[in-house]
Amino acid sequence: MKQLYVKRYSPNQRANHWIVAILFFLAAFSGLALFHPSLFWLTAFVGGPQWARILHPYIGIAMFVLFLFMFIMFVGANIWRSRDSEWLGKAPGMVGSGDESKMPKVGKYNGGQKLVFWSMTWCLVVLLITGCLFWQAWFASSVPIWLQRIAVLLHAVAAFVMVLTAIVHIYAAIWVKGTLHAMVRGSVTAGWARRHHALWYEEQDKRGALTTDPNVKSL
Ligand code: HEM
Repeated sequence: MKQLYVKRYSPNQRANHWIVAILFFLAAFSGLALFHPSLFWLTAFVGGPQWARILHPYIGIAMFVLFLFMFIMFVGANIWRSRDSEWLGKAPGMVGSGDESKMPKVGKYNGGQKLVFWSMTWCLVVLLITGCLFWQAWFASSVPIWLQRIAVLLHAVAAFVMVLTAIVHIYAAIWVKGTLHAMVRGSVTAGWARRHHALWYEEQDKRGALTTDPNVKSL
C-alpha cells in the first residue's frame, strides 16, 4: 500500500518560517553578546562586535516584519478554543507517560503549539517597541531616561521568554517524530495527522486532500 500524505505548509510559508528562524538566531546571538561580557564570543556569528551593535536592531526589525506574514497566515488556526485548555491540562501527564491516547482530539494545532504562537507574537511586539525606545542611532535621544531604563528591562525579559519559547518549540518539533517533515517537505504522513491532529485530519480527508505526493507545490 502506498504511503499517504497530507499537505500542511506551502513553499512560501516554509521559506518565510526558515528565514524567521535564521533571523531569530542572529538576533539572539547578537543580543546575548550585548547582554553580558561572558557572551561576547557570540559576536563572531554576525561579523564582530561593531557589526553586532549596528545590526542587532535591524535584524530584529526584519524578524518582526517577516513574522507579521507568518502571523497573518497562521492566526486563524491559532484561535484559542476550550479543547485547547483541556489539552494543555492533560499535556504534563502525556509527556510523562508518552501515552497520547487519552488526549482530546485537536485541529491543525494543539494547545501547546498555540501557546508558543501567542508567546512568540507578544514577545516580538514587546521587543520591537522597547528596542526602538532605547535605539541610540535613531530614537533614544528623544526618549526620557526613566522610560529607556524600563524599556531595557522589558526588552531583556521578553528576549528571555522568547528564547525559552523557541527552545520548547524546537524540542517539540524534534521530539514529536514526523513533525519536521511538515516544515521541510510541506507535508506530513496521514498517520501523523490522524494521531496528533485528528480533527484536522478528518477535515482534510473529507475534502479529499490526502495525496501520495510528499512534495507540496501549492495548498
Ligand atoms: C531551528 C529552529 C526551528 C525549528 C526546528 C522549527 C520547526 C518547526 C516545525 C517542524 C513546525 C511545524 C509544526 C507543525 O506543523 O505542527 C513549525 C511551525 C511554526 N514555527 Fe518553527 N521552528 C524553528 C524556529 C522558529 C522560530 C524562531 C519561530 C518564530 C520566531 C517559529 C515559529 C513557528 C510558527 C509560528 C509555526 C506555525 C505553528 C503555529 O502557528 O503554532 N519557528 N516550526
